[in-house]
Amino acid sequence: MAAAIKETVSNLVGKLQPHAEPALPEPSAEDFQKLQQKYTEAGQGQVFAFVDELQPTEKTQLYHQLTNFDPTRVNELAEKALSPAAAPEGPPTLEPLPDVALASILDSDPKDIQQWYDAGLKAVSENKVAVVLMAGGQGTRLGSSDPKGCFDIGLPSHKSLFQIQGERIAKLQLLAQKVSGKEAVIPWYVMTSGPTRKPTEDFFQKNNYFGLSKDNVIIFEQGVLPCISNEGKILLESKSKAAVAPDGNGGIYQALVTSGVRENMRNRGIQHIHTYCVDNCLVKVADPVFIGFAAAKDVDIATKVVRKRNATESVGLILQKNGKPDVVEYSEIDQETAEAKDPKQPDVLKFRAANIVNHYYSFRFLESIETWSHKLPHHVARKKIPCIKPENGEAFKPEKPNGIKLEQFVFDVFPLTPLDKFASIEVRREDEFSPLKNAKGTGEDDPDTSKRDIMEQGKRWIEKAGGVIVTEGQSVGVEVSPLISYGGEGLEFLKGREIKAPAAVEKEE
Ligand code: UTP
Repeated sequence: MAAAIKETVSNLVGKLQPHAEPALPEPSAEDFQKLQQKYTEAGQGQVFAFVDELQPTEKTQLYHQLTNFDPTRVNELAEKALSPAAAPEGPPTLEPLPDVALASILDSDPKDIQQWYDAGLKAVSENKVAVVLMAGGQGTRLGSSDPKGCFDIGLPSHKSLFQIQGERIAKLQLLAQKVSGKEAVIPWYVMTSGPTRKPTEDFFQKNNYFGLSKDNVIIFEQGVLPCISNEGKILLESKSKAAVAPDGNGGIYQALVTSGVRENMRNRGIQHIHTYCVDNCLVKVADPVFIGFAAAKDVDIATKVVRKRNATESVGLILQKNGKPDVVEYSEIDQETAEAKDPKQPDVLKFRAANIVNHYYSFRFLESIETWSHKLPHHVARKKIPCIKPENGEAFKPEKPNGIKLEQFVFDVFPLTPLDKFASIEVRREDEFSPLKNAKGTGEDDPDTSKRDIMEQGKRWIEKAGGVIVTEGQSVGVEVSPLISYGGEGLEFLKGREIKAPAAVEKEE
C-alpha cells in the first residue's frame, strides 16, 4: 500500500517550484502497449476503451496520467476500503483522554496560559514555528468554483479566508519581533490538490501574498487517486483522462515528504508545526498558547477541541479508544455514552472534546512519517462523479452517487501515537472555531455564520478594550483587521471611542 501511495503522489507533486505544465514526451508504442496490458491484467482495461479515437497528444496525456497509478494497488485499496477488516469483538472501551494530557482555556490558571503564550511566542521569534494549511478539498457543499480559501464571507473589508489567515501570520511575526528585536518568520505551507493548486497560486500572486514574503509562502500539492465505480472500475472523466480526486486530508503526511516541504522545514530549523483547515475563519494561526502548551507537554501531537454543545450535536470527539488516542464520530457512539456526565463536573458532558481539526505536530514526529504512513487506512466517500459512459463515451452527470472516492483522514494517525505523546487543549468556540462548509442561506456553517462570528468577536474585543459600540439596525458587530490585533491585544487606542457598527477597524488612528 505504501508503494501505491508513493506512486500516486510522486509524479503529481511539485518540488516547491511554481507550478508549470511541462511538455509531455510521447511514449513509444511498446511502452504504451505495456501500460495497457498492466491495466488489462488488473481488470481495469476499460480506461483504454477509446484509445483508437484519440489524437497523439491526448494519447500521450492518458499515458502519463495512468503511469502515476498502479492499477493492482488501486484494486487493493478499493477492496480494503469497501470491505474493511471486521471490528474486534464487542464495543470499544471509550474514555476521555487522561487528565495529564488535557487543559482548558476555559478554566486553566491564567498564569499557565500566559506561560504557554510566552514560550510559544519565543519559539516563533526564534523561527522554530511553521504553519501547514490544508486547502486541497474541493468544497463541494459550499458550491463555489474557486478554492474555499478565496471565498469572500461578506465582511465589510471583503477579505478572503486566505487573506484573514495570511494577515494573522503577518501580525504574529510582528508580535514575535517585538520579543526578540529580530525579524521573525513563520513559513506558511499551503497544501493544495490538482483542482485547487493553480487557482490558489494565482490568487496568492494576485494578492501579493497578503504582504508576506513570497519565499515564506510555499504552495505544494497533495496526491490524487482514481475515482472508481460502485463495481470497482476506474472511471473516465473524458476519453483521454481518468477521473481522479484528492486523496483526502490524510494525504498531507505523504505530501509533506514527497513535495520537499519536510526537507524545507528541516533546513529552516522548524521544531513546531501548526496544521489547520482552510474553512475556519476564526483559526488562530500558529497560536503561541497552543505551541507553548504542546511544547511544555513534550508531545508529538496535540489537538485543539471545543466543548460539545449538547449530547446530540453532530461532531467527532477526541478521546481514548481502547487505550489509544482517537476520534470517534457522533454516529459511532450510543445515546448513553453521548449523554454521560463528567463525574468530576456533573454539569458538563463526559465526552465533550469536539474535534476542530487544529493540530500541533513536533518536527521530530514528522521525521518518522515513513515508519507509519503506510498504516493509514483509506476510507470510502460515495460521491456523484461526472464521467463518460464506458459503452459509448457519452458524458454522464449523475444525480445520485455513482462511484467512490478513496480518502485518507488526517486524524487516522492518532491511534498510532502513544497516549503519553498526545495532548489536547479545550478552547473557546466563539473565539476559535467557525467553519465554512455550506452554501449561503443554509443557516449553519455558512458564509453568514462565518461573518457573524468574526464581527461578534471584534465587538467583544473592542468592548473589552473600553471602546463603545453604537449599533445600527440589525448589525452584528465590528470587523477588526488581523493586522491591528491577532487575538484581541493592542486595542487600547479604542478606549472611550465610539464605533458605529457594522464597521471595519483597519488601522490605528
Ligand atoms: P472537508 O472534509 O470539509 O472537505 O475538508 P471540503 O473539501 O472542504 O468540503 P466538501 O466536503 O467537499 O464540501 C476539511 C479540510 O480538509 C481539507 C479541506 O481543504 C479542508 O481544509 N482537505 C480535504 C484537503 O486538504 N484535501 C482533501 O483531499 C480533502
